[in-house]
Amino acid sequence: MSNVLRLAIVDPNDSSRESLKAMLLGMDMIWLEAECSRYEFFADVVAQTNPDIGLVSVDRDRDKALELVARLAESSPDCSVLVVSSSNDGQLILQAMRAGAKEFLTQPVRIEDLLGALGRISERRFGRGDKKPRGSQVIAVCGAIGGVGTTSIAVNLGCALARDAKNSVALVDLDLCLGDADVFLDTIPDYTLVDVAQNVTRLDFTLLKRSLTKHSSGLFLLPRPVQLADIALVTPEDLQRVIGLMKATFTHLVLDLSKSYSPIDLVALEMAHHVLLVTQLDLPCLRNVVRLLMSFAEMKGIGDKVKIVVNRVGLDHGQITLKKARDTIGRDIFWQLPNDYRTMIEVRNNGVPLIEHAPKAAITQAILGMAEALTRDDQSGASEAQGRAGRSRLFGFFTSKGK
Ligand SMILES: Nc1ncnc2c1ncn2[C@@H]1O[C@H](COP(=O)(O)OP(=O)(O)O)[C@@H](O)[C@H]1O
Ligand SMILES: [Mg+2]
Repeated sequence: MSNVLRLAIVDPNDSSRESLKAMLLGMDMIWLEAECSRYEFFADVVAQTNPDIGLVSVDRDRDKALELVARLAESSPDCSVLVVSSSNDGQLILQAMRAGAKEFLTQPVRIEDLLGALGRISERRFGRGDKKPRGSQVIAVCGAIGGVGTTSIAVNLGCALARDAKNSVALVDLDLCLGDADVFLDTIPDYTLVDVAQNVTRLDFTLLKRSLTKHSSGLFLLPRPVQLADIALVTPEDLQRVIGLMKATFTHLVLDLSKSYSPIDLVALEMAHHVLLVTQLDLPCLRNVVRLLMSFAEMKGIGDKVKIVVNRVGLDHGQITLKKARDTIGRDIFWQLPNDYRTMIEVRNNGVPLIEHAPKAAITQAILGMAEALTRDDQSGASEAQGRAGRSRLFGFFTSKGK
């Protein structure tokens, strides 16, 4: 739990305490250490539980609450006090800050404001070093051409990440017209990206999780809109907020991009930590990879995040060699995934992920290896690792599998 902010809350008002708790409980970066309904007991609760943050709701009795803030600042100086009030009276804010509060939020608390306050507190506590609370990892999966395997990879990567109980993972289908991530997971979702985008300012973390569809693998899915007419309702700004909210809720976000490289896709590329560019070993694909890399290089911060994933290695003898591909693209191949048409078509048609349907298959192992490499700290070491471990396994595929 060392990379999580531990929080204790005091609010004599049951309903506002419950709603604050609901918001906090859905956040991965927060561990709710203790709750208390009486101001007079809270200093002891904090002394005993030693949380990073003490959240004090001051509405029930301002004088008592401010006294408590001052007491906490003295008796538990390591605990950052965050004051919440339904009033934004400047005098009250001043009094709270003078008493020792580090942050002040007004009710109803907006998620963005809470995140901002928590971010500032964690920065002050941990600095910019490695001990910062674990952030969310955003992985955008895009492709060099239609049908290259983007969705297959995004869905199965999401399931592979969700296999680790420490992770909470969501997949967002950003192919707004024709996305089919829901088919791969055999789900009929109640809500889509449009619902979440339109309500993003009103959603708390619990509601957000309820709006997503949870697959038995543990992966949460936010699917594309149902109606074509609804696509226009999702603006790039909305998506930015949705991703921001989801980053605070999940340890990993996988974004399945469309092939149109629209403003929506660009938001995803900008917000991602890793961009997996999926290609196959044929001329049209590699030509597009070169073009895309040239465009990405013009976009601030995107070029460096791109990792080339070669899919369907061993598809046929006419394929361009990996060496030639590497030379043409001018960068290393991050990961190779073998061709296994039968398994891939089965998992899609049955709506069952690879780890469930074919856990031992080389394609599954390659995706698990890629998930592990992405979550490992040393990325350069990770690419090398596949070079060593993957090649011999892939070799069998060259000879045994065809289309
Ligand atoms: N490694 C693979 N081996 C064989 N077939 C694959 C592989 N990856 C994907 N496919 C197949 O390619 C087709 C297109 O995949 P899909 O993920 O829908 O691509 P995209 O999202 O890029 O359009 C599907 O029929 C899928 O089963
Ligand atoms: Mg797709």
